Amino acid sequence: MSNVYVLDHPLIQHKLTYIRNKHTGTKEFRALVDEVSALMAFEITRDLPLEETTIETPVMEATTKVLSGKKIGLVPILRAGLGMVDGILRLIPAAKVGHVGLYRDPETLKPVEYYIKLPSDIEERELIVIDPMLATGGSANDAIHSLKKRGATNIKLMCLIAAPEGVEIIQKDHPDVDIYLGALDEKLNEKGYIIPGLGDAGDRLFGTK
Ligand code: PRP
Ligand code: URA
Repeated sequence: MSNVYVLDHPLIQHKLTYIRNKHTGTKEFRALVDEVSALMAFEITRDLPLEETTIETPVMEATTKVLSGKKIGLVPILRAGLGMVDGILRLIPAAKVGHVGLYRDPETLKPVEYYIKLPSDIEERELIVIDPMLATGGSANDAIHSLKKRGATNIKLMCLIAAPEGVEIIQKDHPDVDIYLGALDEKLNEKGYIIPGLGDAGDRLFGTK
């Protein structure tokens, strides 16, 4: 069963409050999503493996540490996942970025895939799928299926806010995928929005609607 981590660092929680607030405008919303994504990336990379290396400092030879594991790939789910990319890249600038385009059909709430472009070596990378919202879980679930179909074996999912329904579907269909959240909210409403949530992440990020 996948692990679920709610990243309760005070800075993440503080900024999430402003992200949720309906009076926060597009410019500030975008900046906050960027900042929270960087803070979350700091937490989710805690377990990256290290190996020893030898270097020369200006003073002497020293044995120090460098990252040793798989290279990282970010996979934002379009559109709203794009808002999280730059914050994470500030910490992991060498990561490659793939894109999966999905939107939720407003009637059926089922995801429709319209675009996919991935680094050629995804099977060798640790992939972090990013999307601000994990609501019914349909979009993230389909994105992960798409990545696995193309050879990915090492995947984490990172979202700002999730509903229990979304967490459940990922745990059922992808027990190998650990889930990292800023908050686990109460439930979905009848339109599939997370309660209390933050509204429509794509619209708030890009100023549409
Ligand atoms: C939002 C959000 C997720 C999805 C979550 O995208 O960014 O991708 O909904 O809902 P789910 O867990 O029920 O699938 P949306 O479909 O609104 O598309 P957009 O990012 O293009 O606005
Ligand atoms: N997508 C969003 O952007 N917000 C929600 O609350 C649910 C799905």
